[in-house]
Amino acid sequence: MNKSLGTISRVSFRDEHPDLGDGRAEILAGLALPQKRVNPKWFYDQRGSELFDQITRLPEYYPTRTETAIINENRAAIAANCGDDSVFIEPGSGSSEKVRILLDAVRPAVYVPVDISADFLQQSARTLGDEYPWLDIFAVCADFNAGWDFLDELPSSRRVVFYPGSTIGNLDPAMAQTFLRTIATLVGKDGGVLIGVDTHKSTSRLEAAYNDKDGVTARFNLNVLRRMNTLLDADFDETVFSHRAFYNEDLRRIEMHLVSDVAQQVDCAGTTLDFKAGETIHTECSYKYSLEDFAALAASAGLEIVESWLDDEALFSVHYLRCAA
Ligand code: TRP
Repeated sequence: MNKSLGTISRVSFRDEHPDLGDGRAEILAGLALPQKRVNPKWFYDQRGSELFDQITRLPEYYPTRTETAIINENRAAIAANCGDDSVFIEPGSGSSEKVRILLDAVRPAVYVPVDISADFLQQSARTLGDEYPWLDIFAVCADFNAGWDFLDELPSSRRVVFYPGSTIGNLDPAMAQTFLRTIATLVGKDGGVLIGVDTHKSTSRLEAAYNDKDGVTARFNLNVLRRMNTLLDADFDETVFSHRAFYNEDLRRIEMHLVSDVAQQVDCAGTTLDFKAGETIHTECSYKYSLEDFAALAASAGLEIVESWLDDEALFSVHYLRCAA
């Protein structure tokens, strides 16, 4: 066995030192709006990331397992679209779990995981490198909204962006369009985008996925209150807020809120926040797209669908996109 080969030089790491800000001013501004809101990026501290990991394995939460099955069953067709020797870029790669299903089929020239959590990224890249000794890995710690200059150092072969998990759904449609446009420019006219998108479906099925009976999603949502207590020296009390998630059928999005169970005042960064009983903090959206809706979004960003793969129940979709002619 030649295990050491993988650790010699095939994994490299580049730190662009992404600036998340300390969050104080931004969070306070959100809480001062008529509909209070907080940016979902604050979900993901250590505890939040662990809870999210549990969400992906819940019986009610079909997206992760369905997407994994779709990719697994269609990996030959997916690989045919990606072509050989691509520069395979994954924004928000986390533990690089899903890409493992594809690597042997796609055989990219280099895999580029991009994430904002430096230590976790470095560790994940090393583990992946040990498992795939033939693979070149160029891990980049960066905010993928900030710029992609680091790609200039990589081979000039076809670029494919891998964006699974229906993360696109957590952006509102205008931001999703901007994001896809950026990606389209990045991959250029012979590149591609492999993207996972949760589908519009029955309200009951969708609402069950975000209201699991063990309350994991509730704990995940409520964790943002602890986060704010730390970041803002606030005194949010988790026991007087409740998780609420519902499908807004008109806007085709799951909305997650934290509901104040009572009228209360919360000390927050030296000021006082008033909550009426039943008032909410809006924490996240998860947009759902029919095939037509997603094709329209892609088109608005200069992309076209080359091929789509779905499970038998059409619970989830995976698309290969390229720049429109
Ligand atoms: N993008 C996935 C989704 O919208 C995963 C996700 C992001 C999520 N934030 C979440 C799942 C909050 C549950 C709760 O489903």
